Amino acid sequence: MTDKYAVIGNPISHSKSPLIHRMFAEQTGQDISYEAIEAPLDGFAATVARLRAEGYKGCNVTVPFKFEAYQLCDELGQRAIDAKAVNTLIFRDGKILGTNTDGPGLVLDIQQNLGIEMMWKDVLLLGAGGAAAGVMWPLFNTGVSIEVANRNMEKAQALVKEFEGPCSVRTRRYEDLPGHSYDIVINATSSGLRDELPALPDGLFKPDALAYDMMYGRETPFMAYARRQGATLVSDGLGMLVEQAAVAFDLWRGVRPDTKSVLEAMRKL
Ligand code: ATR
Repeated sequence: MTDKYAVIGNPISHSKSPLIHRMFAEQTGQDISYEAIEAPLDGFAATVARLRAEGYKGCNVTVPFKFEAYQLCDELGQRAIDAKAVNTLIFRDGKILGTNTDGPGLVLDIQQNLGIEMMWKDVLLLGAGGAAAGVMWPLFNTGVSIEVANRNMEKAQALVKEFEGPCSVRTRRYEDLPGHSYDIVINATSSGLRDELPALPDGLFKPDALAYDMMYGRETPFMAYARRQGATLVSDGLGMLVEQAAVAFDLWRGVRPDTKSVLEAMRKL
């Protein structure tokens, strides 16, 4: 019997997740199906209920439903609690279990695919919305120091609040960025969706710096800016997408797929 999985979002037609999971399934010999499902904006819970009734084993959740998914779960994993958002649901023993694989996906991509040692590095995280919140704890746990820059400082301060104390997590205004430089700059704003660039100064990148945009699918203004500024490594978020999918696949199936070959295949599309 084929086990059914899906990704739920709105919009969802451009999702690459079905392709990634099909490649994982083929590679590992797992008998699963995986489809993209668009839920109405007011119909996320009803869509999850339908999938459960139809015997689905789990699903991924993407924009804009990650917080709703968090609220819907019967049991939450630590990563979901840290992120206050859920991107992976497991339907098991009549319960909805929720976790979040976005942060581990980002960290795996930076450390393993891009080959960067993160311990002690200075990270600038741009943005303080859901995308930033989803990766804060896993980033922090790699041993980096983090500065969060956001236009809205209240949101930035709320995001770093739980790291208060002797932790190396701070906020910084965009206006105060000149004169500071970083090993890793991560764009977690939604600016790329509208082809915008956050107000970034010259000189933000240390030698050998990584510029990472969590978006994928095209060159964003942030990536173009980083190349102009001489960042050594410039990456989009495709590797993060593949890695977060692999962690979810492993949770569902108990098998860890090889991500390198899948990422290479996705880059060639
Ligand atoms: P997401 O869940 O994708 O993070 P969100 O919660 O709406 O979406 O957050 C969007 C983030 O992108 C916010 O941090 C927002 O900054 P503000 O909170 O200051 O509004 C940031 N953002 C969007 N467009 C931006 C731009 N052109 N320049 C800088 N930051 C931008």
